Amino acid sequence: MKIPSLKIRNLESRFPVIQAGMGVRVGNAELAAATVNSGGFGTIASVGLGDIEKSKTDFVNESNRFLISEIRKAKELCGGKKPVGVNVMVALSNYEEIVRTSVAEKIDFIISGAGLPIPLPEYVADADVALIPVISSGRALEVVVRAWIRKYNRKPDAIIVEGPRCGGHLGFSNEMLDDMESYSLDKLLPEVKEVLKTYDCNVPVLAAGEIASRADIEKMLSLGYDGVQMGTFFITAEEAGLDVKSKEFYIKSTDDDVVVIRSPVGLPVRVLKSPLVERVLKGERERFSCPYRCLRTCNPKKAPFCIAKALLATWSGDTENSLFMTGCNVDALKKIMPIQDFFDTLKD
Ligand SMILES: Cc1cc2nc3c(=O)[nH]c(=O)nc-3n(C[C@H](O)[C@H](O)[C@H](O)COP(=O)(O)O)c2cc1C
Repeated sequence: MKIPSLKIRNLESRFPVIQAGMGVRVGNAELAAATVNSGGFGTIASVGLGDIEKSKTDFVNESNRFLISEIRKAKELCGGKKPVGVNVMVALSNYEEIVRTSVAEKIDFIISGAGLPIPLPEYVADADVALIPVISSGRALEVVVRAWIRKYNRKPDAIIVEGPRCGGHLGFSNEMLDDMESYSLDKLLPEVKEVLKTYDCNVPVLAAGEIASRADIEKMLSLGYDGVQMGTFFITAEEAGLDVKSKEFYIKSTDDDVVVIRSPVGLPVRVLKSPLVERVLKGERERFSCPYRCLRTCNPKKAPFCIAKALLATWSGDTENSLFMTGCNVDALKKIMPIQDFFDTLKD
């Protein structure tokens, strides 16, 4: 099968691959730019940015300052080529500021999930930015599309469908995750297409979850998806922001080390059984103080650990205290390689 290009709004990439937003600092400017240079959509994760000490007293401005420098760096590294976007989690307490700052920096697209991104069009106003909600059911999509049309006369420019085998936070309950077959990407597509048809919304639909090869992409295309979003497989790309010790931790882990725990974000999260996760599973609670409340949904008095601190530990290579978010396909991570090597496998 010839791998087609991807068009979203007025943006186009040679290959139908969006590099997933991956916080904290995994999906950074370097990874996003290398993706664009290789023929995909490059995404900067907007969570956990900024100097930690400065964030304690000025979280919003410090995050914005760092985000601006990431966006500018990504654009410079790909010589102004498009499409460079940001991923913004609805659960972030500085959601509005991140969106407005990205728009002011002339970002090409915004991907938004981990909650329903209802107010997104309001913060983007009439800027020429492609808006891409992340959903895990036709019902969630319907809530978003109906609200966007009614309140803002705006429709999404593409949809990302995150299936239950995805990395990171999951839009499924634990009971649903016990029966992942019932919510697989092939079952989710018809319900999503039905909603899009109802609202006369003819936009690309992208599959996310456990995609790690050309064959996986071909499978999604033959199911009727227009492209894919890939996260886990790019964690060990040379350009990904995390320390080499953490990349090696992923490489030496196997699918048997993958578990789902409850995240302080308030959703189930798929992770590797790291020393921190082993402690959490035993019922231990990490002591921490929370100076900046980065998540609307986290209760620092009850959370078993600070997710920002744990993800920063992953970024810095402190594997004892890390949270390694992952999809189901950690076995596919074999070596550290330039992201271009993967895109080369998609050429004819
Ligand atoms: C390390 C890691 C960090 C992630 N961070 C975010 C994030 O900041 N925001 C978000 O919406 N999704 C996040 N995700 C989910 C991805 O955007 C993506 O949808 C998912 O990884 C796709 O599944 P895959 O990992 O099996 O390819 C993350 C996933 C991983 C593995």
